[in-house]
Amino acid sequence: MTYEPARFDFSIPVRVNLYSDTQTRPSRGMKQAMMEAQVGDEQVGSDPSVWDLCDRVAALLGKEAAMFLPSGTMCNQVAIATHCRPGDEILAHESAHIITSEAGAPGAIAGVSIKGLTGERGLFSAETVAAAIRPRNRNNPPQTLLEVEQTANRGGGACWTIDGLRSVTAVAHAHGIATHMDGARLLNAAVALGVPATDLTDGCDTVWLDFTKGLAAPLGAVLAGSKAFIGEAWRWKQRLGGAMRQGGICAAACIYALDHNIDRLADDHANAKALARGMAQIPGITAEHPETNLVFFDTKGTGMTAAAFAAKLRQRGVLVSTSDTYRARACLHLDVTSAQVEEALSVMRLVVNA
Ligand SMILES: Cc1ncc(COP(=O)(O)O)c(C=O)c1O
Repeated sequence: MTYEPARFDFSIPVRVNLYSDTQTRPSRGMKQAMMEAQVGDEQVGSDPSVWDLCDRVAALLGKEAAMFLPSGTMCNQVAIATHCRPGDEILAHESAHIITSEAGAPGAIAGVSIKGLTGERGLFSAETVAAAIRPRNRNNPPQTLLEVEQTANRGGGACWTIDGLRSVTAVAHAHGIATHMDGARLLNAAVALGVPATDLTDGCDTVWLDFTKGLAAPLGAVLAGSKAFIGEAWRWKQRLGGAMRQGGICAAACIYALDHNIDRLADDHANAKALARGMAQIPGITAEHPETNLVFFDTKGTGMTAAAFAAKLRQRGVLVSTSDTYRARACLHLDVTSAQVEEALSVMRLVVNA
C-alpha cells in the first residue's frame, strides 16, 4: 500500500481551482512581507515576527496567549495532547476533522478515543452533549474535552451561532469538561455572521485559526488559550517537531493575511452563493445552500459518481474535491473570481449535457 499523494497531472492547465481554499498562492504583497520579515529563532523566543503574530491572534480570539504551529492538524493534536491523558474520551461531531482526516492522531499521539455526536450540518445541540456524558466511575473513560469545528467542514461550511456555541460549551463546563474549537475557518463564520470572533470563542478554553485556508498564507496556524495552557502546550510543540527556527518568514505572511484577507472573505461567500444558484439550474445536480465559502453538491441525478463528475471537470480545467460516492465540494477563495465562477458553471453544464 502506498500512502503517497497521486502526482498531479500538470499537463492539463487549471482554469478554475475550486478544490480547496488551501490552494491559494501567496500574493506579491504577501511575498514582499515575507522577504522583509524580522526573524530570529522561534524555539528560543527570539523571533519578533512570531511573537507579533501570536500576540495579535491571542487578542483577535480573546485569549491570553498563543503559539505558532506549522498546520491546523498540529494545533488540534497539541491541544488534545495537552488537555487529555491516555484513556480519556473526547466528544466531537461524528464528521469532525479530528475523526475523519487526521490519520487517527488522537489515538496515536494522545492515546484518547472520540465519541462521535450526531446533528445536522456538522453541528449538535446542548441536549446531545448532555446525553453523551457518562457517569464518572472506574469503568467509563474519563471525558475531558468537547471539540467543536467552526465552520463545520463536512457540514457544508455551516456556522455555529454564538448561542449554539455557548449552550454546548456551558454543558461541557458544568461537567468539568474542557472545550476546544477547531477554528480552521472561524473567520469565515465571524464574517458571515457579522460578529467579532471573540463572541464565537468565549466559551472555548482553546481555539486555533488556520492561515492556509481563506486567509491565503502558504503555511501556519495559531493555537490560543490561557497563558498556563500555552506554556504547557509548548512541551508537545517541541515533542512533535513543531518548534521552528526562523518562523518569522511564515509569521510575516500570516500577519499580512490578518491585515488584508479577513474582510474580503465576504467576496468568497458571495461567490459561493452565486455558484450554488447556478448549480441549482443544472439538471441532476443538487447543491446544498452555502453559509460560507463551501458548496457541497450531490451528483446522483446526473448518473455520475462524484469522482466521475470531478474527473470530467478536471479534463476541462476545473478542479473540485469529492467527499463521498455522490457528494462533492467546490470551495471558494481568494484565487477564484466571480468570472471564474461563471466559467466553472459553463464547464459543469457542458459535462452534464455531454
Ligand atoms: C475543519 C478542518 N480542521 C483541520 C484541518 C487541518 O488543517 P491543516 O491542513 O492546516 O493541517 C482542516 C484542513 O482542511 C479542516 O478543514
